[in-house]
Amino acid sequence: GLSSWLIATVSLQANGSGGTAAVCLNMASAGGIAAVIASKTKTKKKHFVAQKVKLFRASDPLLSVLMWGVNHSINELSHVQIPIMLMPDDFKAYSKIKVDNHLFNKENMPSHFKFKEYCPLVFRNLRERFGIDDQDFSNSLTRSAPLNSEAQGRSGARFHTSYDKRYVIKTISSEDVAEMHNILKKYHQFIVECHGNTLLPQFLGMYRLTVDGDETYMIVTRNVFSHRLSVYKKYDLKGSTVAREASDKEKAKELPTYKDNDFINDGQKIHIDGENKKMFLEKLRKDVEFLAQLKLMDYSLLVGIHDVERAEQEEVESEDNEVEEEGESDGGGIGTPPDSPSNTLDSNKPLCPGEFDPSIDVYAIKSAPRKEVYFMAIIDILQHYDAKKKAAHAAKTVKHGAGAEISTVNPEQYSKRFYDFITTILS
Ligand SMILES: *[C@@H]1O[C@H](CO)[C@@H](O)[C@H](O)[C@H]1NC(C)=O
Repeated sequence: GLSSWLIATVSLQANGSGGTAAVCLNMASAGGIAAVIASKTKTKKKHFVAQKVKLFRASDPLLSVLMWGVNHSINELSHVQIPIMLMPDDFKAYSKIKVDNHLFNKENMPSHFKFKEYCPLVFRNLRERFGIDDQDFSNSLTRSAPLNSEAQGRSGARFHTSYDKRYVIKTISSEDVAEMHNILKKYHQFIVECHGNTLLPQFLGMYRLTVDGDETYMIVTRNVFSHRLSVYKKYDLKGSTVAREASDKEKAKELPTYKDNDFINDGQKIHIDGENKKMFLEKLRKDVEFLAQLKLMDYSLLVGIHDVERAEQEEVESEDNEVEEEGESDGGGIGTPPDSPSNTLDSNKPLCPGEFDPSIDVYAIKSAPRKEVYFMAIIDILQHYDAKKKAAHAAKTVKHGAGAEISTVNPEQYSKRFYDFITTILS
């Protein structure tokens, strides 16, 4: 296909910095060249009204760069025409921007950084298929800094949620990025065919951030849990009982991640009605078949339980604090004008306890007959069988225990065992 490279120098007027940025856009597509960019505008000394100044203020400079990058990327994309269909090259494309001498907002932003977005057109298309408006997406990730979150997945990974809890930002490895590229085309096809109706992670954007020569990879997915209903109990289930219980250290956490054996020992069940059960299992079956085809394994079902009465109780207890907090949160200086049309207004409509908006909390299922809401989805899907075998083989030469179980289960068997176990947790 055609490949178009645009290198431009952009004055970072938007940030009032007067710094320069080299922009490379590789949005190759056979049909039309979708390269935008480069508004060269003169820098004026600005005297912002305090409320209008948007600063990407985060405790971690990396998060400020993420906020900056997402804001930049979504703005750029808004000028890129939506193609009739995605082209093979779109699944290899990326855009990147190098920012030097960034002087504005120095306390929060490094003065040199790079931001690379992988397959921007593909992820935009995925966001659309998952019913996510790009401007809302950008707002969620940039209006206020993402929040630190306890790890909910494989070891080592760092997690944040967007300030409004709609999205999860996970730090991933370069191997994960490679695996994403391997599966992206088939994943996209799968999402098209199931109309976004899946328990798989909703992949919404993948980025590389470079600060001080260190590269950090991040992927954004929709939060499995609710943006407003709290979860008091959380399980990570794989359908294996070998070493599948939470450690004492884990149990000491505020919201521990319990595992298969804990679920069984707790006598826990997921109480949902026949119709929901049927729909859920149908999705699960298709999803794990797809994962087995891709030779992916070791994924989990993340389960969160919201207890309606318990949450009401907690609400009453924390009511006083809440009033104070609300007052403070307006002090950020990033208010939405009251008359601006925004989806978020709808979703903020008061809902009764235990009610949710199924277009936002897409994984939520109401319990019957209990006063509970469950959030269940598949997470950590990027483990490929071959990579795992290789690693296991290497580990075996050192310590044979680790490899023994691994070699006995392949992705097909993994998916069956996983599915069978999940059928038993539903009552
Ligand atoms: C976000 O992007 C827009 C458009 O490029 C720009 O005007 C705005 O200043 C950016 N926000 C920040 C805080 O950099």
